Amino acid sequence: MNLDDIITHQGEEREKYFNAVAPPIIQSSNFVFDSIQDMRDAIANEMHHHVYTRGNNPTVEILRKKVAALEKAEDALIVSSGATAIAAAVLSNLEKGDHIICVQKPYSWTYKLISQFLNRFGVSHDFVDGRSIKNIKEKIKDNTKVLFLESPNSLTFELQDLEACSHLAKAHSITTIIDNSHCSPIFQNPIDYGVDIVVHSGTKYINGHSDVVVGVICSSKKNIEKIFHSEYMTLGMNISPHDAALVIRGIRTLPIRVKQSDQTAKILVERLESHPKVEKVIYPFSKSFPQYDLAKKQMKGNGGLLTLALKASSKEEVYTFCDSIKRFLIAVSWGGYESLMIPSITFHDMPNMEDSPIPWNYIRFYVGLEDVEYLWEDFENAFKQINSY
Ligand SMILES: Cc1ncc(COP(=O)(O)O)c(C=O)c1O
Repeated sequence: MNLDDIITHQGEEREKYFNAVAPPIIQSSNFVFDSIQDMRDAIANEMHHHVYTRGNNPTVEILRKKVAALEKAEDALIVSSGATAIAAAVLSNLEKGDHIICVQKPYSWTYKLISQFLNRFGVSHDFVDGRSIKNIKEKIKDNTKVLFLESPNSLTFELQDLEACSHLAKAHSITTIIDNSHCSPIFQNPIDYGVDIVVHSGTKYINGHSDVVVGVICSSKKNIEKIFHSEYMTLGMNISPHDAALVIRGIRTLPIRVKQSDQTAKILVERLESHPKVEKVIYPFSKSFPQYDLAKKQMKGNGGLLTLALKASSKEEVYTFCDSIKRFLIAVSWGGYESLMIPSITFHDMPNMEDSPIPWNYIRFYVGLEDVEYLWEDFENAFKQINSY
């Protein structure tokens, strides 16, 4: 389906709401019926009728249809956060005694879900370096039911070969799930490569304005119905119609936002790579990136994320550099208007916490929608502050 059609028309039935251009916010928890028979029919197919907003709400349904089409999926669910989307997709495919394989260094709460939470329910796991399909193959057991991918994965951006992973998983009747938040549906569609379930932190690019926490799950009708009737309804994972309207508004500009971030990040990476205070830049579309060819094969772009390893001789130097940067805000997350950074050093030497596996001189940057020269000036100024070291 054409991208502009999805964004402007998919899911919208304007004749039902006074031909309003923007969708209405149907802020109602429940819906009335003309007869018992009508109510029975609706309850029998709650996912596609309006009974109760924990199940299906007209505003959320518009968003659901757009998101499914963006990921080339048959259907989608919109849930209360990216973490919810990950948990629902994973839980719906596991039972006591099963085994899950996940890529190394996934998003921190994915790691906790798999390494701690699932243990309580008798599910075992292995984390593997997913850059090699051989590593994944070696960990497959008779009871392996899920292969969880994140490509590129958090902070250091290792990729997995999506086609090879799906092929391998299918041969062993294993469900593949991918966290596709890094690329957004504009730059990577894992279903094209045979992946079964695609999840996103919609909080990032899909909403795109740092004002809604939301998650999405995209898959076949069969998989989505299964999640709807168990995890989604039982655990109450819905978002509010008001938030759904904000996310629909965000989607109107999704392609131009991610393309703008992508272009600006590319220019900044080129400049950073040749800077004497930079040890390296981790960025999938850098020629020096070990999986550059795979990035070109399965990603149409990268978006605004890059990780810089500062050539720092001490932790103090990292603090000085980061504290001198003013136009990238120190904050978690990404995908909004404003550029952000998250220094790995934040997660080192913390009381009662294990050190992050990411070296302390690494800083992850999200390049937002500001002008490239405005952002570069900020870098140049911060580099000047550490020249004396
Ligand atoms: C890669 C990735 N996946 C999932 C999530 C979780 O999303 P949310 O914060 O919407 O729950 C995050 C959050 O930062 C993330 O970075």
